[in-house]
Amino acid sequence: MDALKALTARKSVRSYAKKAVPERILEKVVNAARLAPSACNVQAWEFVVVTDAGLLSALAALCDYGSFIKDAGAAVIVASKDTKYYLEDGCAASENILIAAAACGLGGCWVAGDKKKYAPKVLDLAGLPEDYRLVSVLALGYPRAKSAGVPKRPLSEVLHWQQFNNKAARGKR
Ligand SMILES: Cc1cc2nc3c(=O)[nH]c(=O)nc-3n(C[C@H](O)[C@H](O)[C@H](O)COP(=O)(O)O)c2cc1C
Repeated sequence: MDALKALTARKSVRSYAKKAVPERILEKVVNAARLAPSACNVQAWEFVVVTDAGLLSALAALCDYGSFIKDAGAAVIVASKDTKYYLEDGCAASENILIAAAACGLGGCWVAGDKKKYAPKVLDLAGLPEDYRLVSVLALGYPRAKSAGVPKRPLSEVLHWQQFNNKAARGKR
């Protein structure tokens, strides 16, 4: 699948079929994460893939808006050393995971990590050092149903040429 098709196909999926995600697909998805840009190429991230049912349930119980993680085929915990741009870098890697997952026919959903009170507990569950930052938890699995998706603001509303208030500048380069 080409990149634009994959990122158009990506939609948050919170309901999964009872079907394991093969390890080679999970490796592919994490490989996409490690190729993301990072400030000064520090690559301070780590990706912990959780497939164990008991650990997925424990993770679901920790994340206040992540109860669906217990039914996912896998979850990827994205964490980083506490670098200056850990959040931007970690978010770029997280989005790569979701787009790669969509390209592989998986559904996924980003569950908040950074700023959450439960972050230290998730780090502990994953065996990560306590001075690391939790960026995201990404639930992954084969979708139980096709998702219609949520409304997105139209391009004509969000795209601004040259300056925010300028409606007439399109094509003038
Ligand atoms: C930083 C961030 C945190 C999010 N946290 C959660 C979460 O904790 N639980 C959840 O169900 N969805 C979470 N989401 C998913 C958003 O709700 C979802 O991306 C948004 O509604 C748009 O839908 P779409 O992903 O289908 O485009 C999060 C997304 C982002 C980017």
